[in-house]
Amino acid sequence: MTELRDAEARAASRRLLATSERELQRIVLDMHDGPVQDIFAALSQLQVLERALAGDPSSQQRSRQAVRLLERALNEIRNFIGAFRPPGFERRALGEIIEGLAVQHETLTEQGVELDLPDDLGDCALPTKIAIYRILQEALANGHRHSGASEQHVIVERQAGSLALTVSDRGRGFNPERVLAREEDVGVEGGHFGLRGIQDRVEMLGGTFALESAPGRGTSLTVTLPAE
Ligand SMILES: Nc1ncnc2c1ncn2[C@@H]1O[C@H](COP(=O)(O)OP(=O)(O)O)[C@@H](O)[C@H]1O
Ligand SMILES: [Mg+2]
Repeated sequence: MTELRDAEARAASRRLLATSERELQRIVLDMHDGPVQDIFAALSQLQVLERALAGDPSSQQRSRQAVRLLERALNEIRNFIGAFRPPGFERRALGEIIEGLAVQHETLTEQGVELDLPDDLGDCALPTKIAIYRILQEALANGHRHSGASEQHVIVERQAGSLALTVSDRGRGFNPERVLAREEDVGVEGGHFGLRGIQDRVEMLGGTFALESAPGRGTSLTVTLPAE
């Protein structure tokens, strides 16, 4: 009975994960089609206005400031869209998605990513694919923001019925017990959603989470997730 309920809860979690990812992608597209286009239109209006204000330097200066603010907003939205751009989960196989993310990370950060993927990795269920993508994205971001290492190592292995992802660096490391126990830091004000989010995703899919790190000794994160 309990087992059945566990299985039902897990199936519901999977549906929820796929749904929230679809929602996220819809939000990204809405932002691209809505506010981004509006900001573009406002910018071109301001250019016209600026020419018309040629004889009024102080108004022209205000208009220029508005242009700068809008450009900054546009850049921030672009960065957000870049990070959450729909990677085409349904269309692309797991290996291709992981490779794409690694290349994107190297390009954006100039930090190296050494990738170990088996030739016969194959594909996996959609909720697992989404989870692996988001977990890898967060782990690479952490390795870039916090480790100080010039390179990270990503290994994906297929085990009986599951997939294992390891992301490691030889950077400065930290004390995971202290970080994971600081529940009160998790939240809007404290930030630090990353590792908590990884744990939540793993838990929802019934996988495992292991984090090894020590100050001065680097960090290694391994998650396993059911492949089906
Ligand atoms: N690869 C890493 N190297 C060093 N420190 C790390 C690494 N990953 C995580 N940390 C530490 O764990 C903390 C929590 O990480 P996380 O939950 O992702 O939140 P955030 O990245 O927003 O700070 C980080 O602030 C950092 O101190
Ligand atoms: Mg983080």
